[in-house]
Amino acid sequence: MSANPKKAAGERAAELVDDGMIVGLGTGSTAFYAIQKLGERVREGLPIRGVPTSEQSRIQAEREGIPLVDFAETIRIDLTIDGADEIDPAFNLIKGGGGALFREKLVATASTREIIVADESKLKERLGAFPLPVEVVPFGWQFVRLKLEALGCRATLRVRENRTFVTDNGNHVLDCAFGAIDDPEDLERRIGAICGVVESGLFVGLAHQIVIGKTDGTIEERYRPQPPSAATGVR
Ligand code: A5P
Repeated sequence: MSANPKKAAGERAAELVDDGMIVGLGTGSTAFYAIQKLGERVREGLPIRGVPTSEQSRIQAEREGIPLVDFAETIRIDLTIDGADEIDPAFNLIKGGGGALFREKLVATASTREIIVADESKLKERLGAFPLPVEVVPFGWQFVRLKLEALGCRATLRVRENRTFVTDNGNHVLDCAFGAIDDPEDLERRIGAICGVVESGLFVGLAHQIVIGKTDGTIEERYRPQPPSAATGVR
């Protein structure tokens, strides 16, 4: 068994992919290992097609030889494997530490099954210690920041290597430090109602299963007790 918890979780989730599936390919250092393992399985003959959630994942998948399908041409995504920055006991998530939250959320919403891979440091009693990433259009982002801060956070424009971070969609990210989030579903709705917000990194009712790699070398799999439709009413 691997001593690397992220690798163990990613590789385990990749084993859950079956012949013929259309697979959402997540983003980040844990999803990386799932894509790597899927590449191995494809080279051994597994017939799947992938839908990447970022340019980073697209490049990796192409290098691995995983056939890709354009999301616009897909009528279904059978299973998505993606990482998370925080996971609460109800399987609510904060995502977007890598800035891919919009495509990740769209792919998750289209997926029959969403498997989250992570090490155990991502498990939290409540979300919010990790600042919530919110993707916003560049035009008027300062106004959007004020609207977000009116919801009770401190919002910081994401900068990487001394430059404003730009998402794969040409947008900016505001990292919103809310502290402990009491009601993720309500906060997601209120953020989504702000004009200029593209999407928030709050994922409510989207994850079906989590695969946790532990430092002792074991892997824990947990299943959402009820389908997300029961939680959100929309899926
Ligand atoms: C990418 O935008 C994120 O949502 C990642 O999935 C998340 O940050 C987890 O990344 P790691 O697996 O690298 O911790």
